[in-house]
Amino acid sequence: IRDDAPAVGDYIANYICKRINNFEPTAERPFVLGLPTGSSPIPTYKALIKLVQAGKLSFKNVITFNMDEYVGLPRDHSESYHTFMFREFFSHIDIPPSQVNILDGNAEDLIGECNSYEARIKAVGGIELFLGGIGEDGHIAFNEPGSSLASRTRIKTLAYETILANARFFNNDLSQVPRMALTVGVATVLDSREVVVVVTGQRKALALSKAIEEGVNHLWTLSALQMHPWALIVVDEDATAEL
Ligand code: GLP
Repeated sequence: IRDDAPAVGDYIANYICKRINNFEPTAERPFVLGLPTGSSPIPTYKALIKLVQAGKLSFKNVITFNMDEYVGLPRDHSESYHTFMFREFFSHIDIPPSQVNILDGNAEDLIGECNSYEARIKAVGGIELFLGGIGEDGHIAFNEPGSSLASRTRIKTLAYETILANARFFNNDLSQVPRMALTVGVATVLDSREVVVVVTGQRKALALSKAIEEGVNHLWTLSALQMHPWALIVVDEDATAEL
């Protein structure tokens, strides 16, 4: 628990920096980092950018996989997760674009795209550290309430709560919010060697308490982390309101 969102961001960025710097990458086993979108990870991205600019961290030998992407939103739309990731993070660090992986929500064969994403993750030896955020309904990536805890990368219809929550990014116009997304599954997240989740703000307080104080439950998919041997949830004071 940290005081506020910037302190959470600094903590996670320093943590990831240490993990990457202490890791000895080989051609067969690079450092593979899973990444989220949303407003919660922005302080972490800002702090990571500062570490790169200060010469304390490099992403030259890091491969990234993003958690999710909207279906049908043009890649260059201001709210696509492609655009978000380059605007908030990748354009400011030294990662070669060929090492960035983001699901293609405009692929002709969406199921094929999901299956090939899983295969690409496997081909690089799996994810070393998956950084995630959560929705107000407790979803991790876009694993909406009711998602199987054994789910893999797939197409998901967004919950009404998520469409409402994300309308703020689409001129508060519900009709502009995509109805579907491609997302890594709960099992894809659980497969990574380590999971770090950022939860900030009072809006997330109920989901946090459901996920860590109640049982493992597919209605609050973050709760699946209770089964993971190496999971860390970093929160601010506001998010602890229901604990
Ligand atoms: C979307 C993403 C999630 C993210 C969530 C939280 O739903 N698919 O991966 O965790 O937004 O967004 P925010 O951090 O803006 O509350």
